[in-house]
Amino acid sequence: MRNKVTIVGAGNVGATTAHWLAAKELADIVLIDIVEGVPQGKALDLLESLPVEGADVSVTGSNDYAETADSDVVVVTAGFPRKPGMSRDDLLKANADIVGAATEQVVKHSPSAVLIVVTNPLDAMCEVARMKSGFPRERLLGMAGVLDSARFAAFIAAELKVSVDNVQAFVLGGHGDQMVPLPRYSTVAGIPITELLDVQAIQRLVKRTAGGGGEIVALLKTGSAYYAPARAITEMVDAILKDKHKILPCAALLRGEYGIKDLFIGVPCKLGAGGLEQVITITLTAEEEKALNKSAAAVRELVDVVHAQAQSR
Ligand code: APR
Repeated sequence: MRNKVTIVGAGNVGATTAHWLAAKELADIVLIDIVEGVPQGKALDLLESLPVEGADVSVTGSNDYAETADSDVVVVTAGFPRKPGMSRDDLLKANADIVGAATEQVVKHSPSAVLIVVTNPLDAMCEVARMKSGFPRERLLGMAGVLDSARFAAFIAAELKVSVDNVQAFVLGGHGDQMVPLPRYSTVAGIPITELLDVQAIQRLVKRTAGGGGEIVALLKTGSAYYAPARAITEMVDAILKDKHKILPCAALLRGEYGIKDLFIGVPCKLGAGGLEQVITITLTAEEEKALNKSAAAVRELVDVVHAQAQSR
């Protein structure tokens, strides 16, 4: 029997993720959206592309969560994308309601699924999903690190004029302007980029990575990035469905790792069939630790708003 993946939110990120998952023949796919006709239309269009590709999966669209029953993985992309001039943090309250409502429905129909949250502000939306789902941390992850690392890797490859295949980039921390790209663990053919680029060049690439989402928003003007986010989600889904034990940077609920407790933040995670198998801890320099703590403090501020919003209900 094929695996089943539900994607909540049939907008740019959701539909593009469905495209990758279907093309890779990873699972049967259900697209859910609040707008009538959109998930159905996009699903049908995608389904009609699959004979050309030769991919045998089903793709359905619906406004009814009953269709999502017994999904192995559920990806939540529902929400408003960031508009120009709007920080990820401005999105907080609006998207908390949407992610909360979606999570309730998802959990009702797929109580054993691994939930991947994508809606921004990411780390805080993971906390919303945790509160609504009661899922253990093993089955609740946020997608940000694969995307942020991919951006860093793309910039490193372009700067050094090398194949993207040679680059392994490493980003820690929250998915915000305070994220922590780690040059000393970012390598080209195994060589740390600190050996290949000067400090100024690295700082420039790090800054561009941290502002990577905003750079796309400023260009698009009417939405936010979706090609790279969708490919990054696909990488996490692939690692889970194929039980790969693959280490990918994801937002996970920390329980004291890196000196951080009860907060979702981006760290290297080993992913397999059950979702999160292990948080990998590495030793940080004093400077890196300071940057991570600063990023965690920014996430905690948003989480405090989420908790206050929940209590006022
Ligand atoms: N239930 C289901 N779907 C919803 C709901 C809801 N309550 N509210 C909104 N949606 C749907 C919208 O109808 C829309 O189709 O979510 C979709 C969002 O799609 P886009 O507006 O295209 O946004 P997208 O670019 O996909 O980004 C979605 O992912 O990367 C993050 O920051 C991004 O938070 C944003 C999210």
